Amino acid sequence: MAKRRPQERDLAWTPLKTRTESHTKIKLTRCGKCTLGILMTLAAAVLIGLIAYFTTCGKTALYYHISFKVKNIDYDSRFEKPYSNQYISLNLKVASLINETFHGSKLGREFINSHVVQVSRSKGKALIHTVLKFKSCHKNNAAKFRDKIESMLQQKLKGKTGSLCIDSSTFRFSDMEMPTAENLLNTCCGQRTITRSGNKIAGGTNANEGEWPWQASLQQNNVHRCGATLISNSWLVTAAHCFENSKNPKEWKASFGLLLNDPQVQQSIDNIIIHDNYHYPAHDNDIAVVHLSSPILYTSNIRRVCLPEASYKFPPNSKAVVTGWGALKYDGSSPNILQKGQVKIIDNKICNGEQVYGGVITPAMLCAGFLKGKVDACQGDSGGPLVSEDHKGIWFLAGIISWGDECALPNKPGVYARVTYFRDWIKSKTGV
Ligand code: ARG
Repeated sequence: MAKRRPQERDLAWTPLKTRTESHTKIKLTRCGKCTLGILMTLAAAVLIGLIAYFTTCGKTALYYHISFKVKNIDYDSRFEKPYSNQYISLNLKVASLINETFHGSKLGREFINSHVVQVSRSKGKALIHTVLKFKSCHKNNAAKFRDKIESMLQQKLKGKTGSLCIDSSTFRFSDMEMPTAENLLNTCCGQRTITRSGNKIAGGTNANEGEWPWQASLQQNNVHRCGATLISNSWLVTAAHCFENSKNPKEWKASFGLLLNDPQVQQSIDNIIIHDNYHYPAHDNDIAVVHLSSPILYTSNIRRVCLPEASYKFPPNSKAVVTGWGALKYDGSSPNILQKGQVKIIDNKICNGEQVYGGVITPAMLCAGFLKGKVDACQGDSGGPLVSEDHKGIWFLAGIISWGDECALPNKPGVYARVTYFRDWIKSKTGV
């Protein structure tokens, strides 16, 4: 930092003893000196305290779990699907109730958010489990803070609760550790914390941390071989052809995070299930599911994608995004940072055109890319996701990267295993 010349003002901060040029000499008695010393020490202590308070305040997150039964809402299995209208509207009602509880209160500034993490059945009614997140400036006073929150909630649930008729006797409240809470807060499929976009694979650009949180790298003896997609805390979907060299789960690992050489989490694998009707080198039924040895904890950067219903149709020409650590061009080098490329879904009829793939595309396959080429998956991307966002901003898995004629060539778009076609197969093998 640049040095500055001493100015007159600076004098005020020099110790009194050295102020030889001072016009007014202040004579202090011993007692006066002593009081001044104490005052200055006190002031310094307060200042340090304030600095510490404002620098650490709000950095510690505290999490609580609450649950209660709602007498006027019948349990509905659709509450289990976070993209269902039933779940969305229930979550909104609960969030606004919790907001009302803390908004404008003494804890208004410390309350961050709440999220319904589970709805279970209690005598046919909905029992709602919610996680609450606070930022706290009361690290040393956590017990008091907790009690305050609990009693404010108790009060609220006994009083006016809008359209939710709550059985306040069922109210339960407990602390939560951060990893457990974040795991629950991030269990919703197809959502991500980051919303930044901008298209920066062959013809793709660098992804951002947390942008494609369901993307995994499948590694054989620590070498990246294929992409894969997280569909639950224990299962990944990928391509069957990834295991042509080895089907032994012990040789395989899954890694998560933006960078290949510095993953956020690595997990071993204990089961690889390849579609029975996949026969190398044919491309039919190029799908497999992989089981993690222990369930992964979701974080804001590691989340699962939503699987579409078997009947869902991804409209031709709609936008989709393909991601992976595969080659940047055919026979080219591979990146360390995850790449994303925006493509469009191509109708099977067009993809089977004479100039394109001439009839080899089956109903179990889906094409995506551009007829002019330029953006495509490439070697090393196989098994990874092709995802598409619905009108609510929730991401669904449309395809699994399978094959293509070289990469990004005109009239040779990427070919994917069509997830809707295999939806029931995935369910039968994984329960997801
Ligand atoms: N089969 C390739 C692999 O194992 C991926 C092929 C994707 N090619 C394409 N042009 N879209 O990684």
